[in-house]
Amino acid sequence: MISKKMVQALNKQVNNEIYSAYLYLSMSSYTNYIGLKGAANWFMVQYQEEMVHAMKIYDYVNSQGNHAQLAAIAAPPAEFGTLLSMFEQTLKHEQFITNCINELMDLAIKEKDHATQIFLQWFVTEQIEEEGNDNDIIAKLKLIGDSPQGLMMIDRDMAARVFTPPATTAA
Ligand code: FEO
Repeated sequence: MISKKMVQALNKQVNNEIYSAYLYLSMSSYTNYIGLKGAANWFMVQYQEEMVHAMKIYDYVNSQGNHAQLAAIAAPPAEFGTLLSMFEQTLKHEQFITNCINELMDLAIKEKDHATQIFLQWFVTEQIEEEGNDNDIIAKLKLIGDSPQGLMMIDRDMAARVFTPPATTAA
């Protein structure tokens, strides 16, 4: 049994995750446009992962006899500057998402909602990985500086990222 307050907070997080997907889809489009096809692939995989995150929460809310309710998704920016700036924006966004997950966990603890605490554990771990990936890429981009060859090498690496669909989004 999840409280009404918890359901509302989880519904808000469905919206945050779909916005994340939308943001990375826009970044994919932008990097494709400026000729960074590998980065476009990286952000497209990120978009797909964010949709999985949204669906996990949606399925959890609905599986508990509640109603996952959807709200309008804000428009993301269309242009993002350099690849380094894009990853700095990505890290900043993921730090915001980590904060949202922490707040959800705080609420679940406050309400002694053990089921939701266990459910959210996956997201706590996922955010460590997400921020770690962004930090790694930012460090590499800072190392290569203005080198076009370096940028092409990173872009080639990013082309190799593959989306692995989960067997299920059920909790
Ligand atoms: Fe779903 Fe990137 O956090």
